[in-house]
Amino acid sequence: MSKTDNTKGYETKTINWYPGHMAKAKKMMQESIKLIDVVVEILDARIPLSSKNPDIDELAKGKYRVLLLNKSDMADEKKTAIWKKYYEDKGFFVSIVNSKTGAGVKATTEVIQKACQEKIERDRKKGILARPLRAMIAGIPNSGKSTFINSFAGKACTKTGNKPGVTIGKQWIRINKNVELLDTPGILWPKFEDQKIGLHIAFIGSINDDILYPEDMALELIKILMKDYPLVLKERYDIDVTTVSTDKNGSSDADISGENEKALAILEMIGQKRGCLKKGAEIDLLKASKILIDDFRTQKLGRITLEMPE
Ligand code: G4P
Repeated sequence: MSKTDNTKGYETKTINWYPGHMAKAKKMMQESIKLIDVVVEILDARIPLSSKNPDIDELAKGKYRVLLLNKSDMADEKKTAIWKKYYEDKGFFVSIVNSKTGAGVKATTEVIQKACQEKIERDRKKGILARPLRAMIAGIPNSGKSTFINSFAGKACTKTGNKPGVTIGKQWIRINKNVELLDTPGILWPKFEDQKIGLHIAFIGSINDDILYPEDMALELIKILMKDYPLVLKERYDIDVTTVSTDKNGSSDADISGENEKALAILEMIGQKRGCLKKGAEIDLLKASKILIDDFRTQKLGRITLEMPE
């Protein structure tokens, strides 16, 4: 872990994490990809950019692509609609779902069929009818792959055994007469090239909390709240962003530093208001950060989307 920045005595650090099982997961995907028609990638609607792994563009070359904006119940509805259009404009077939309640899940069959229209037509011309489309679910940890598969397959689903010509050991779940799912979802590991992406992925719990820096996450979250959701800070913590002042002004560098200062001041205020104190009445920033992150994860801050298209 490396220290990269300094904000009023508090050091921010880089998440430096590369899971060992990444190669194995990638190999499984590479082996499976030849068996399938369409890759259904599950994104977390709160971080539609950071939860999308660009590796899959290479891996799934030549396959039809569907993106599901999952956990839509936790994300900002208006922003989810913007993201849907953004990815549709890039050529993806996109659906908004809530795998927990099942909202939008059944409609995924239709989206998969639309995405694979060309293949369906091709098959039809060859006289091949009623061949189910084969899909693989992919996504980063905690994006909701298992929840989606359970909801999509439902109780009535049947697992089909090994089929002739299909790699031994692969199991298929028959969703309906039109779609079959590979029962092992492809786990994609997130990209950490950008510190911000690492932090955003951390918010949704895709990284083990033990290796995280809650203060960095809290400061990043506060900066987003200051900019996009100032009322949330007011409603939840009674903090009026417009009255939090710092002595920075002038150049754009000072603005960035001023923003950091302001975020830190807000974190301190949250700590104060929530009684997070160390010995000697010093504010316990770690405790305050954990409260804020927990409030975000348990949706006490409401429906929040952390990212917007560039
Ligand atoms: P994964 O296979 O991709 O790793 O993800 P998984 O399905 O295990 O889902 C991770 C967490 O996200 C689970 O919560 C799950 O309930 C939740 N989840 C999945 N889809 C949705 C959704 O559309 N909306 C909401 N609100 N939550 C969703 P958990 O706390 O780990 O488990 P549990 O308490 O639900 O049992």
